[in-house]
Amino acid sequence: MNCLKDTIKVVMKMKWTLITGAAGGLGQAFCRQYAASGCNLLVQGRSFEQLNTLKIELMKEYSVRIEICVCDFTNNESFKEFSEFLGKYHIERLICNAGFGSYGLFAEADANQMIQMHQVNMDVLMKLNHLVVCNHAESIKEIINVASTASFQPGPWMSVYYATKAYVLSFSQALSIELKSKGIRVCALCCGPMETGFSKRAQLKHTWMQKMVMVTPDYAVKCAMKGLKKGKSIVVPGFMNRMLVSFSSFMPSSLRLSMMSLIQSRRK
Ligand SMILES: NC(=O)c1ccc[n+]([C@@H]2O[C@H](COP(=O)([O-])OP(=O)(O)OC[C@H]3O[C@@H](n4cnc5c(N)ncnc54)[C@H](OP(=O)(O)O)[C@@H]3O)[C@@H](O)[C@H]2O)c1
Repeated sequence: MNCLKDTIKVVMKMKWTLITGAAGGLGQAFCRQYAASGCNLLVQGRSFEQLNTLKIELMKEYSVRIEICVCDFTNNESFKEFSEFLGKYHIERLICNAGFGSYGLFAEADANQMIQMHQVNMDVLMKLNHLVVCNHAESIKEIINVASTASFQPGPWMSVYYATKAYVLSFSQALSIELKSKGIRVCALCCGPMETGFSKRAQLKHTWMQKMVMVTPDYAVKCAMKGLKKGKSIVVPGFMNRMLVSFSSFMPSSLRLSMMSLIQSRRK
């Protein structure tokens, strides 16, 4: 009995990395690389089976602990339980990766789906940042919020998604300043197009230009880890993506919007 109590105490004192959307493309890459660097993982997703398969695979390769948290972020009750569950752990790193988009005209979009997009891409991300900063102040050291190259300009045909990612970038940058004195690093990972489940769910295809600038999820994660170490608050993986982001920042906004409109209209 005492032995069991001691084991529980040891587990509770351990430091954990919380990764949301862990079963998906970029989320899985985060899990692999943080497990490879010896971090214990709290992996969140909506399917226990998918997370368990990932857990078994990672535990065969790396000697780390992995705990599964099943939660649908569009369900308030489920999110409340998830937040309470997190109270048992010392979280040293938060990776807010869960998110989704949808392609199509705003006037034809499903209102419920847009509300859910707000919930998952912004509200939950903000709430989790608040939770770790307030309730895990002793242990939290790093936060990565997954934004996008979509964060840097409006995106016709994906207006709500682009706006949610602009929020993630703005919020993360501001937070990185506020939390600096507490020794907490915050970074917005602004990924360009990647081959994951994202485009299938959003019902969009990548144009030749997007295929040219595509990076792998593994590469994006490596950039995030490296950028965070260097204290960067924004990381854009891939030379071409960085060029496009800087180039478009010098463009007049009307020209930038016309270009985006042309690119976005061809993604169906
Ligand atoms: N792929 C790209 O081209 C691209 C480009 C820029 C930024 N991003 C961003 O990268 C992040 C990861 O996306 P990905 O490319 O890896 O796509 P993905 O494979 O579709 O992964 C998205 C993850 O978000 C989770 N998620 C979606 N809705 C959720 C909900 N209601 N509750 C809880 N979790 C939910 C999914 O969970 P389930 O596994 O349970 O479905 C999934 O694990 C997203 O924030 C996305 O916006 C992607």
